[in-house]
Amino acid sequence: MLKKLFTNKDSTNSMVGVDLGVATIKIVELKNENKKPTLVTYGVSSGDRQATKEIHQNISPDLIYLMQQARTTTTNVVGALPTSSVFSTIIDFPKMPTKEIDSAIKWEARKLIPLPLEKMSLHWHILPTVGKTKDDDSIKVILSAAPTETTTKYLKIFKAANLSLLSLETEIKALQRSLLTPTDKTSLIIDIGANNTNMIIYDNNLPLLNKNIDIGGETLTSHIAKTININFERAAQLKKQLGMSTFDQASHPAVKAMKFAIDNIIIRDIKHLITVLGNSTQNKINNIILTGGGAHLKNLDKYLENELKINTRVGDPWHKISYPKELKSELGKIGTKMSVAIGLALKVVEK
Ligand SMILES: Nc1ncnc2c1ncn2[C@@H]1O[C@H](COP(=O)(O)OP(=O)(O)OP(=O)(O)O)[C@@H](O)[C@H]1O
Ligand SMILES: [Mg+2]
Repeated sequence: MLKKLFTNKDSTNSMVGVDLGVATIKIVELKNENKKPTLVTYGVSSGDRQATKEIHQNISPDLIYLMQQARTTTTNVVGALPTSSVFSTIIDFPKMPTKEIDSAIKWEARKLIPLPLEKMSLHWHILPTVGKTKDDDSIKVILSAAPTETTTKYLKIFKAANLSLLSLETEIKALQRSLLTPTDKTSLIIDIGANNTNMIIYDNNLPLLNKNIDIGGETLTSHIAKTININFERAAQLKKQLGMSTFDQASHPAVKAMKFAIDNIIIRDIKHLITVLGNSTQNKINNIILTGGGAHLKNLDKYLENELKINTRVGDPWHKISYPKELKSELGKIGTKMSVAIGLALKVVEK
């Protein structure tokens, strides 16, 4: 079975973005057609599996199966580490030669990161600061670090599926590629998964700050179930049916339960991020972009916009991709779930 998959016409101008979520696996294959990313195929694993806290180690057979179902034409894949396992921060340094930054970063990282550095993979880049700092003599560096153990776990999963992992990136990078447009200045992407919500602030397409909280679509469902004493399936149905309905259904106990969780956790954390952002860069968020399965929650965009007074939209991860017109409605329906997978596959058009 494996052989069949891997003897397919393996084209080098095509890549599969693989998003291993705790609820579902998402894959998107894109090819580079004269620099235009073009859809080859896509797939989402069935959502029957109850989400776990982390992806399970034995996920490779599910991934192989999904790739076979979607008839991917290459074994070249790009994967991502979950934002929850990536530590990222901005560090201020006095101006210094780039080669000295490397050792300065390690020095600072020892103070900031709770795990021994020997157990972490570190990456950094200098943030362009044109007109953004009071102090012209300083540089800002973004440091990202992930536990080597997590990186190794992901590498093993792809190896066991016999795939050529071209790059292991972060969800932060993937969402940046698929969702941001050139007119987005300082933007907050909120990725609502099953058990986690990731909030990432980008400034001119570069990630500045991120925060991960352990509440997601399933947590909302469990909260409804507990609050009004119904089972999980019924709560999931009600959640999808009602959403954050603003008018006649607003007093429904299920809507009240969701509002409670959203107001007290998600909105509170967004406000906190906004304060941190203001303190470190004097920047303000111009717009919020919602994504992840949880962004399907009806009227969530309107609700957040009203509560935070910030322009809010549900992101369209297909906006850079060419695909047959007949697929528009189908792709639109699954859109917000696919942002990470699309963003990873978009590497195919990067040089
Ligand atoms: N129409 C809908 N209304 C509200 N929520 C929905 C809707 N459709 C899907 N969801 C929620 O989306 C969540 C799954 O989202 P997603 O597929 O992005 O998660 P995941 O990527 O597997 O998880 P994670 O990112 O936490 O690893 C589920 O909790 C589900 O309840
Ligand atoms: Mg996800």
